Amino acid sequence: MPEIRPYRPGDLPALYDICVRTADAGNDARGHYSTDQLMGDLFAAPYAYLEPELAFVVDDGGTAVGYLVGTADTATFASRYRAEWIPRLGDRYPVPPPPPRTPEQDMHALHHHPERLLVTGLDDHPAHLHIDLLPAYQRRGHGRRLIDRFLATVPAPGVHVGMLTANVQARAFYDRLGFEVLPVAVAGPLTYLGKRVAGFDPR
Ligand SMILES: CC(C)(COP(=O)(O)OP(=O)(O)OC[C@H]1O[C@@H](n2cnc3c(N)ncnc32)[C@H](O)[C@@H]1OP(=O)(O)O)[C@@H](O)C(=O)NCCC(=O)NCCS
Repeated sequence: MPEIRPYRPGDLPALYDICVRTADAGNDARGHYSTDQLMGDLFAAPYAYLEPELAFVVDDGGTAVGYLVGTADTATFASRYRAEWIPRLGDRYPVPPPPPRTPEQDMHALHHHPERLLVTGLDDHPAHLHIDLLPAYQRRGHGRRLIDRFLATVPAPGVHVGMLTANVQARAFYDRLGFEVLPVAVAGPLTYLGKRVAGFDPR
């Protein structure tokens, strides 16, 4: 029976694999970009690297088959992404010429502009997360358990997700878990959903 456990550094290759297999609005994005590492480099690994205590996996027989990664404070995360993560990747992804002209350049632009995460209207929900499960492990309650674990751990009054509006399956999941649409100016293809963290004590 798969179990939820804290992330370990040895899970990192699995995180990259799960990330790209679910990165096309919940579907497989392998082969979509110059490297299958790109999605993980933006949306999974920096969280596991910068805030490993807020990363959890679904473990099936010793292998991570799903994960939740996140941050307690999006502003601090954006600044650490710039100061620590961008230098760590070095010149792997070039700064694209403005404006970006291809899907690949769009992703490079996101990487080089972590301040995009600082969206007005999210102040009451400073934490954010990313959650992905391999297809065979979806719709079995693991997503709900990962979110419960994160909410029980994260030191923040509220959490948000910036999800691709096209991902209607994920939207049904978040709706079911009590996330609500946040009143922020919708930026491009994303919808922002939020949930208060029950019992959060700021002391
Ligand atoms: C979205 C995702 C994380 C949800 O996790 P999951 O384990 O499949 O969801 P769960 O089985 O825990 O479902 C929790 C609840 O949401 C409901 N739910 C989940 N997906 C649903 C869907 N597509 N339609 C309707 N309800 C859904 C379940 O019925 C369940 O309700 P219940 O607990 O009251 O019975 C997972 O399906 C996934 O990784 N998808 C691909 C990647 C992705 O889209 N990630 C999110 C990016 S924003």
